[in-house]
Amino acid sequence: MLILALETSCDETSAGVVVDGRKILANLVTSQIDIHARYGGVVPELASRKHLEGIGVVIQEALRQAGVAAADLEGICVTRGPGLIGALLVGLATAKAMAFALGIPWVGLHHMEGHVLAVLLEKEVSFPFLALAVSGAHTHIYRVEGIGRYQTLGRTLDDAAGEAYDKVAKLLGLGYPGGALIDRLAAEGEATGLVFPRPLLHQQNLDFSFSGIKTAVLNHVRRLGAPPSEGEIRRICAAFQEAAVEVLTAKILRAVEGTGLGRVVVAGGVACNRGLRKRLLGLAEERGLEVHFPDPALCGDNAAMLGVAGDFYLRRGCVDGLEVNALAHWDLDSANFHQH
Ligand code: KG4
Ligand code: ZN
Repeated sequence: MLILALETSCDETSAGVVVDGRKILANLVTSQIDIHARYGGVVPELASRKHLEGIGVVIQEALRQAGVAAADLEGICVTRGPGLIGALLVGLATAKAMAFALGIPWVGLHHMEGHVLAVLLEKEVSFPFLALAVSGAHTHIYRVEGIGRYQTLGRTLDDAAGEAYDKVAKLLGLGYPGGALIDRLAAEGEATGLVFPRPLLHQQNLDFSFSGIKTAVLNHVRRLGAPPSEGEIRRICAAFQEAAVEVLTAKILRAVEGTGLGRVVVAGGVACNRGLRKRLLGLAEERGLEVHFPDPALCGDNAAMLGVAGDFYLRRGCVDGLEVNALAHWDLDSANFHQH
């Protein structure tokens, strides 16, 4: 089955062409970072406008790279939510219009379902597994029984991990988005003597909290009384990354213990983080666990990741009608297969 996948939930306009839910023929991602960077974060109205300008070109280029014509497509899948409502609507309206014009089915999907299954585009991972989904808006631990069968075991009570990275980068004057920048500076520095809190670390639940770490960084910077030097910034980044990686690692290991599932998939933009990869892969080896990180190109927002679930649903006749609308807020549990 030849599927076009579209993703416009935040600040990336992306179109992918996927065969049988496993093989990527094209996966074009155009980022709007330049436009939003000067505001220190994504400006929703600008994001919608840029999606609108870019979506047609991105689709045409994806089809060209894949070597297929629009008439060859057998189905379309698109991110239905959660995300910025105006941004989502661009992808959704495009998917509906193309499906209607081409006379093919379409289905709207949960953004995190795309992230969690992205790794299947690279290799087979057996179900069930635990997913640590870490992005700019999510920090969730899911139990994944199969495609379309998810259960939330834990989640952030406040900021998402990526959001905390972005906010800390902003208060250090590093720019937006900050995750990759902090990751790089952390690798160049040492935390020496600087320890930020690890919220909820010793609580038995699988929930996270990141806003306290961010506030601790802010208080530390204020106490310095002067803008931090480059060396101090590297030290702060190293200490922040240690705290963030420790809570993420501890909670997913607790989930492994609690469920007896020794298979973990890490997904979302923060899965690019080198500190997290190193720590978790090291512990996995020590404990004989199976831990999978997708290639960095498939960790951040991209359309092809939706092709896995898109193929699954469309094959089963799970098709959306033109009345189906975007959802700014949507729990993955309520996007389960039988609820479609
Ligand atoms: O999945 P994603 O591309 O978009 C959302 O669905 O939110 O994730 C973006 C988030 C941003 O907060 C970004 O700062 C973070 O992922 N990120 C990282 C790294 N690369 C991207 N965070 C930590 N370390 C990284 N290397
Ligand atoms: Zn995402």
